[in-house]
This record gives sequence, structure tokens and C-alpha cells, in this order.
Amino acid sequence: MAYLELRQVTFSYPRKMKPALTGINLNFEKEEITAITGPNGCGKTTLTKLMIGILKATEGEIYLAGRPLTDYSLAEIGSRIGYVFQKPDLLLFCSTVAEEIGFGLTNRGCDPETVQKRIKFYLDYFELTDYRNDFPLHLSQGEKERLAIAAMLANEPEFLILDEPTIGLDAYRKKLLENYLKKIARLGRGMILVSHDAPFVNRLAERVVFMADGRIQVCNERKGNDGYEA
Ligand SMILES: Nc1ncnc2c1ncn2[C@@H]1O[C@H](COP(=O)(O)OP(=O)(O)OP(=O)(O)O)[C@@H](O)[C@H]1O
Ligand SMILES: [Mg+2]
Repeated sequence: MAYLELRQVTFSYPRKMKPALTGINLNFEKEEITAITGPNGCGKTTLTKLMIGILKATEGEIYLAGRPLTDYSLAEIGSRIGYVFQKPDLLLFCSTVAEEIGFGLTNRGCDPETVQKRIKFYLDYFELTDYRNDFPLHLSQGEKERLAIAAMLANEPEFLILDEPTIGLDAYRKKLLENYLKKIARLGRGMILVSHDAPFVNRLAERVVFMADGRIQVCNERKGNDGYEA
């Protein structure tokens, strides 16, 4: 059984004639790293928003761990799938960087000592310690991206969806992110990376889904992380 399964999914935004997505059939395994790529406006972000239930399919079905996605509340989906938005600013709402990282854990009733330990770890790893008391929206774009990723990772979700996670990251920070994602993938936590960053995708993904004009064009299976097999 696939972790996430999309069957004949079509989606239209209100007041738009042309569907943003048409006839999408895709499976995602729980331990697999899949990249989704394709030109601007082809429907990548729309597709991932459907997978976390913030948009509802116009036609077709989506299953999460074998159950229809419509059976889950948004909070239930959010506790299983960590999502980093393409524009992370929209989801930063705490008054300090440290609070932002601990927010999800505190909300889930995690004990304060564990929350503090995790905050410290993620501040260190993503080099945000100097900004721990700063207002999140005052960070630079790359710092905000790292904070959004750190805040999502701190919750230790079983599956991750990152929409353009490398935008705004310099080469060194990109490498740090890549190493971290590889590490958690080895621990069995799969992910979907939406990205135009071909070298990043080539180094990480086991499978690449190419989209164009709201449809799946090609799905390339890859055996290792060291380059395309075919
Ligand atoms: N809220 C919205 N209302 C109406 N149309 C939308 C909305 N969001 C996206 N669209 C349209 O749906 C299509 C797919 O958009 P989407 O954001 O999913 O593309 P994308 O592949 O993520 O592009 P990018 O590479 O630029 O991030 C586009 O034609 C876009 O104009
Ligand atoms: Mg997008």
C-alpha cells in the first residue's frame, strides 16, 4: 500500500475555465524521496496542497495510509505530513525564532525540557542561534526558509513535503539541508521535494516526476542517489 495515492485527480480553481490539474495518478511510498519538477504554473504547488488537504480535489480521490484523505482532519494530516510552503513567510507567526521552532511541539503537549532541547538542536543545525530572540518576519529570505524548515523538522513528521526548499539558500546552507534530508531519509522518513534546482534534485531524489500543463509527463525511477540510471 502506497503512503499517498492520487487516483484520477483533477482540480480547478474557482472562476478558472482550465483545470490546474487533470487526471493525476501518482503513488508515493513512505520511505521514498520523490522530486516534482516542471515549468512555472504547471501545477506543482497545487498538487502538494491537495495532498495535505488544504485544497480539495474537484474529481478523483486521494488516500493517505490507505484511508481517504477526506476522512482526516487538517490537524491529523498536519501531524503526519510536515509541509514547508513555497513562501514560508505566510506561515511564520510566532514572536521569536526560538518560539517558532518549538511551537508545534508545545502545541502537541511535548514536555518543556524536550522542546528546549529540540529548539537548541535546530537553532544550531540551521545556524539560527544568533537570531533566537528575533522576530521571524525580520529575517532574511534564506534565514526565513531555514527557520520554516527547522520548525517543520522539529515536529519530526513521518513524511515531508518541501516546496522549493532551496530558494534563497546559499551553496553552503543548501548542502547542510541536503545532508539533513539524506540523514532523515536513511531513518525511513520519505519526502516530496518540489524544486527547479536540478543538481539538488539529482543528488537527493530516487524518483523524479515531471509535470507540464497540469499533467504528469514522465515519472523517472532512479536506483541510487548518484545520478540518473537511464
Ligand atoms: N489561488 C489561485 N487561484 C486561481 N488560480 C491559481 C491559484 N493558485 C494557482 N493558480 C493557477 O494554477 C496554476 C498552477 O499553479 P501552481 O502554483 O500550482 O504552479 P507551480 O507549478 O507551483 O508554479 P511555480 O513553479 O511558479 O511555483 C497556474 O496557472 C496558476 O496561475
Ligand atoms: Mg509552486
